[in-house]
Amino acid sequence: MTTLGAIGATPQPGSATKKAFGNTPEGQPIDLYVLTNRGGTEAAITNYGGAVVSLKVPDRNGKLADVVLGYDTADGYVNDKSYFGAIVGRYGNRIAHAQFVLDGKTCTLAKNNGENSLHGGIKGFNKAVWTAKVLSTKDGQSLELSYLSKDGEEGFPGNLKVSVIYTLTDANALRIEYSATTDKRTVVNLTNHSYFNLAEQGSGDILGHQLMIQADKFTPVDASLIPTGELRDVTGTPFDFRKSTAIGARIDGDDEQLKLGGGYDHNFILRRSSDLRASLAARVVEPTTGRVLEVWTTEPGVQFYTGNFLDGKATGKGGATYPRRSAFCLETQHYPDSPNQPKFPSVVLKPGERYHTITTYRFSVEK
Ligand code: BGC
Repeated sequence: MTTLGAIGATPQPGSATKKAFGNTPEGQPIDLYVLTNRGGTEAAITNYGGAVVSLKVPDRNGKLADVVLGYDTADGYVNDKSYFGAIVGRYGNRIAHAQFVLDGKTCTLAKNNGENSLHGGIKGFNKAVWTAKVLSTKDGQSLELSYLSKDGEEGFPGNLKVSVIYTLTDANALRIEYSATTDKRTVVNLTNHSYFNLAEQGSGDILGHQLMIQADKFTPVDASLIPTGELRDVTGTPFDFRKSTAIGARIDGDDEQLKLGGGYDHNFILRRSSDLRASLAARVVEPTTGRVLEVWTTEPGVQFYTGNFLDGKATGKGGATYPRRSAFCLETQHYPDSPNQPKFPSVVLKPGERYHTITTYRFSVEK
């Protein structure tokens, strides 16, 4: 093990360590970086897909538990189909019929989700080996991951230089800062696909977690989970999470949208206080442990997904199994299918511009 910023074989508070995590099928080595803050909170991140492999945060009695789903080995991530913990790009979420028109030219992508493109295509950013660099920043330990997505990769135009900086702060937050530049007009929508279970990964379903989302509207979908274009008011629907409500309270009702998603799998339109500064998007409380997760973001939307497609077949960390609805995702993002929906906020990045978004997962406890 190479130790960076601290001495010793086991992670020390306020340190970052690096160890071998395995190889890609092509034989390229993959590493695991363990960031630890002064309170003992720990985030392990691999440069394969930039995935958050584990995140150990305290409960109301100070007991640490790993609150994200994942795998013990690199092979788990190589074979993964659920995007556990990964950086998703070049376009997170769905693009209808795997194509869009940009500057009069049709860009054709791979259909990897029925007729649609999902999460960047067949070999998205979640399957790339990123270049990693440990940084010691003023508020914590950071890991900078860089990746060059070549012109034409997965059908997207332009060489896209991407940087993602993960920072584990001493205030128990995991901040993710995404930046990108391009040499041709392209579309970009980056997110992180962590699956959370605040009781502990592998400990059962998340239906008892209490959720608040700061959204007055959401984007209803069709049968292939593509937004219809409507921005629907949440009032009087099971999508109204403006007051904290148990995730499971309405999930199996006869709402047409919940039936289409097999549960929640929808983009919520965030109420934002400013376009430049991060706003509170969502707050989740797990009542038995008191763990609280707040999601803050500069993004206009969040995909709330209740792990409806998890089937319990994958072997997770420590032999855990992950059945349906054993975790939830809050993927901060631009709205799905924006490249084909002129009324949605634009996802076009032009040469000379810098894509820059920040999302922070803040952990705390409630008594
Ligand atoms: C999508 C789900 C999908 C999951 C894993 C989520 O972002 O909304 O429909 O199954 O990612 O790919």
